[in-house]
Amino acid sequence: MPNKKIIKKHPLAIRWFHWINFPVLAIMIWSGLLIYWANDVYRLGWGDKTILKFFPDSFNKALNIPFRLAEGMSLHFVFMWLFAINGLLYVLYLLFSKEYKLIFPNKSSLKEAWQVLLHDLRIKKGLPPQKKYNAAQRIAYTGVIIMGLGSLVTGLAIYKPVQLYWLCAGLGGYEWARAEHFILTILFSLFFVVHIVQVIIAGWNNFRGMVAGFEVESIPPAIAEPEEEAVANTAPLNT
Ligand code: HEM
Repeated sequence: MPNKKIIKKHPLAIRWFHWINFPVLAIMIWSGLLIYWANDVYRLGWGDKTILKFFPDSFNKALNIPFRLAEGMSLHFVFMWLFAINGLLYVLYLLFSKEYKLIFPNKSSLKEAWQVLLHDLRIKKGLPPQKKYNAAQRIAYTGVIIMGLGSLVTGLAIYKPVQLYWLCAGLGGYEWARAEHFILTILFSLFFVVHIVQVIIAGWNNFRGMVAGFEVESIPPAIAEPEEEAVANTAPLNT
């Protein structure tokens, strides 16, 4: 049987922040849909031509979204505080524990992320050496933190456009702030899909790391065996 060792992966605090974020963000997106329904202005297209309406009536009906504006607003304005507090504590933890060094991109991340992409697309073999996260993960995870901050700032601007008129104006005015908030939500949803696919591909050991905090690693026989041999060889001398 191959030798195995347990390797610490994610600190408890990061696991808590991560798993609190998941349902909270899901509720934010869901309640956002309930609000957006009341004034669904966005579409992909040009002139009179619409390729995709956000969101088709069939989508709204299938999810029972229509006429739930008040419910959406009350959920959104409660859970936004949880989202903000959890996000703020997570970023503070990254900074104070120095974990940010493992997650923020460094100067070679852009070049290495390209190699990771080619590797994932099965175009190139071999990966650049990595620490906790590869370069593509560093960029994606840091991007998602910035997106979270963006969602909070744009959300605050459209929540209190009169009191926070300076914030609203800084984001290009109410209409722009609203569009930015919407685009960030679409990006979150796309990140989520890619993230889940990657987690499934990475497998159980990697997923368990985010739940239990450790990964199990096999020790290659080349390292494991000489030790056993050494014990066997020294045994007669000791007796
Ligand atoms: C069912 C939902 C989810 C699952 C199963 C999941 C799973 C995972 C796993 C296994 C990792 C560790 C990856 C590794 O060690 O290589 C991870 C990290 C991460 N995930 Fe998720 N995730 C989920 C939802 C989300 C959501 C909704 C977000 C945010 C939008 C998110 C953001 C992150 C971030 C930022 C990290 C890096 C955390 C750090 O080390 O500080 N995840 N996720």
